[in-house]
Amino acid sequence: MKIIQMCRVEKLIMKYIFVIICAVVFHDDLGVNSQKFFPNLPVGDFRIEYKAFIRCQIKTNNDIRLNLYLSKKSANTTEIRGNVTIGKPIDDSWTANAIFAIKDSIGGWKDNAHIFKFEKACTTIKNFLGKEWKLALNSFGAENTNCPLLPGVYVGKGKYELTNFISNSNFPKIFFYGTYKVRFFLTDKNNIEHGCGSVVVEVKRPWETD
Ligand SMILES: *[C@@H]1O[C@H](CO)[C@@H](O)[C@H](O)[C@H]1NC(C)=O
Ligand SMILES: *[C@@H]1O[C@H](CO)[C@@H](O)[C@H](O)[C@H]1NC(C)=O
Repeated sequence: MKIIQMCRVEKLIMKYIFVIICAVVFHDDLGVNSQKFFPNLPVGDFRIEYKAFIRCQIKTNNDIRLNLYLSKKSANTTEIRGNVTIGKPIDDSWTANAIFAIKDSIGGWKDNAHIFKFEKACTTIKNFLGKEWKLALNSFGAENTNCPLLPGVYVGKGKYELTNFISNSNFPKIFFYGTYKVRFFLTDKNNIEHGCGSVVVEVKRPWETD
């Protein structure tokens, strides 16, 4: 019930996200299998612990490469470092996808816990990231922060911190607790995947420590 209320109170800009989360809840009401994904549906304020960035490569093309890794500077400060190669402009003909797998109680990954799809990738991600968009692009040496993202090799200067990512961006401020592996990739207008990576994060209660 709490979750359904959350759908109503959140800002419209989050509709992409909340369509998905609400759908999960409605499924639950209908008794459809969502028990598998969310044994207790614990949800609420959270903080995130960034655990790892996992690189991957798409078999059919190599035009967008995320050579990234995480560097932990202190208990609550994690930086993204590395570099990103963009071989063709990323404009609004692309779709960005993020597929969340959640770790279950015996340590396996259950796929498709949440699926976020952002049509008009460049503009939507830009709006979704809010202040983080410019911070991220500038710290990877991109001066142009308008859409489309231009081809180039962007090298991290070791200054991009994730500390305020959630508060600066339009990510939901309430979320389901758990350990997630989030696989993200772009799809072009022919639905072909380009550029991918995964991050492993723990979504914890604000007061929870390791
Ligand atoms: C890191 O955590 C400490 C202790 O919880 C807190 O005092 C500090 O403000 C945090 N730093 C940042 C950048 O959030
Ligand atoms: C990008 O990262 C890869 C992998 O770490 C590295 O081999 C390459 O030299 C980097 N390229 C630039 C331009 O920094």
